[in-house]
Amino acid sequence: MTILLFFLFPPSITAAQPLAEKGRYIAAAADCVACHTAENGRPFTGGRPFPTPFGTLYSTNITPDGETGIGDYSLEQFRATMRHGKGPHGNLYPAMPYTSYYLVRDDDIEALYRYFMQLPPVENRPPKNRLIFPANLRFGLSFWNWLYFDPEKTLAEPAGKSAEWQRGSYLVNALGHCGECHTPRNFAQAMRFDKRFAGNVLEGWDAVDIRPQSLRRQGWNRAQLRQLLTTGSSERGTLFGEMYRVMQHSLRHLSDDDINAMITFLLDDSEALPERPGNSESAAQNYPGGRGDFIAYCAGCHGRAGSGITQAFAPGMDNNAAIRAARPHNAIAVILRGLPAQRLDRERARAGMPSFHRQLDDARIAELVNFMRAAWSSGGAEVTAEEVARIRHSLEEEGYFSPAH
Ligand code: HEC
Ligand code: HEC
Ligand code: HEC
Repeated sequence: MTILLFFLFPPSITAAQPLAEKGRYIAAAADCVACHTAENGRPFTGGRPFPTPFGTLYSTNITPDGETGIGDYSLEQFRATMRHGKGPHGNLYPAMPYTSYYLVRDDDIEALYRYFMQLPPVENRPPKNRLIFPANLRFGLSFWNWLYFDPEKTLAEPAGKSAEWQRGSYLVNALGHCGECHTPRNFAQAMRFDKRFAGNVLEGWDAVDIRPQSLRRQGWNRAQLRQLLTTGSSERGTLFGEMYRVMQHSLRHLSDDDINAMITFLLDDSEALPERPGNSESAAQNYPGGRGDFIAYCAGCHGRAGSGITQAFAPGMDNNAAIRAARPHNAIAVILRGLPAQRLDRERARAGMPSFHRQLDDARIAELVNFMRAAWSSGGAEVTAEEVARIRHSLEEEGYFSPAH
């Protein structure tokens, strides 16, 4: 029926349409869909759970349904949610990343508004929040905002940086809200701006340090970063956990110019540091047990020399950013948890990796990681069995070894 009506009364081309079209792009760059969609739910209809130390919060329906969505929002009200975290029914919890979106420009906010308002309205009421007192009181958030949120603070635009760098900074800081995951938080869950992008563990993964100096230390160059951010795999390893979804829902839909701008900002216009090759012979001598376990459990997929099989199958370990990272968290967590198979499209699918939680104890995993780090990179600190035990324990507490994960 709708299709028939469409042919009888084709929508007239109005000035609002290009704006809505632009809004669709801004919504992709800002990844609204990731949070406002429940697992297997319809896009933007809300209901994704956000576990917090104070209970569980659910995202809302942002389709223009009058009853259950944002159909009654004026542009001013919409702007207030993005800028000040204020909804018509009170303050929003900072799980809605207004602490980054407040930097989004007015014209982009208006485009977003036009885009959401012309979507088909869908009636859907997400579950009620289950938060403990006093976190369940929205007015308490005014105090949080007063302490930790300064909407007057603008995006730094240092003189001497290119227009491309400035665009990248806007995409990373404001729309992409990359800092929300990659910045450490204080006890009240507020981002620590003195450590912007310095890395933070969430959902059991280390959202690694992505400051220029750290990315260069990992050996990333422009071409590899472009491949990683737009396809999820590269010569230096793959994206996994929430970062895979950022690529899937957001980054791969961005224009080449915008991806290039982000990379210019991320690498700060600088070249990678010199390679830091390891030494596989001395590594085998120093960590014979680690080498033995690598051959027995890992080489079938990652290759005896650690150079991977094919990119589609299993990534190389010899240039791998997770192996080179200053903090070994992800290398250890991947071995413990394994990774699910991923399928982006017909050409880009990859097999998963099994969990070794039951096969390998803490001391053996420590030696395995030490072997890999010594064989294929250098300069990383020695991993101890205590460190592996600590990570295993926290993953266990958070339920990542249950069958659902
Ligand atoms: C990191 C997760 C996340 C992202 C990304 C996100 N949101 Fe939200 N948003 C939430 C959560 C959670 C809430 C509910 C907060 C609350 O109840 O206090 C929310 C609330 C809202 C509300 C208030 C709705 C209401 O019923 O009052 C609007 C409007 C909104 N988001 C729009 C957007 C738009 C537009 C984008 C993209 C530009 C976006 N959100 C991206 C998590 C997110
Ligand atoms: C059945 C094949 C398979 C086996 C066996 C396997 N892996 Fe993997 N591994 C993979 C795949 C596939 C990925 C990438 C998955 C993804 O990102 O979705 C991966 C990812 C990783 C990563 C994360 C780095 C990155 O770039 O993704 C590390 C570290 C790793 N493997 C180490 C090991 C170690 C150590 C062992 C042995 C204890 C091992 N793997 C055994 C297939 C395997
Ligand atoms: C929802 C949380 C989340 C958001 C938002 C997010 N990241 Fe990530 N990111 C992660 C996690 C977790 C990892 C570690 C897993 C991996 O390497 O794939 C990661 C890894 C990365 C890596 C790999 C670095 C390395 O050396 O291995 C890069 C680069 C990166 N993120 C850039 C970005 C950029 C740019 C943005 C904003 C557009 C962004 N991230 C937004 C969670 C996030």
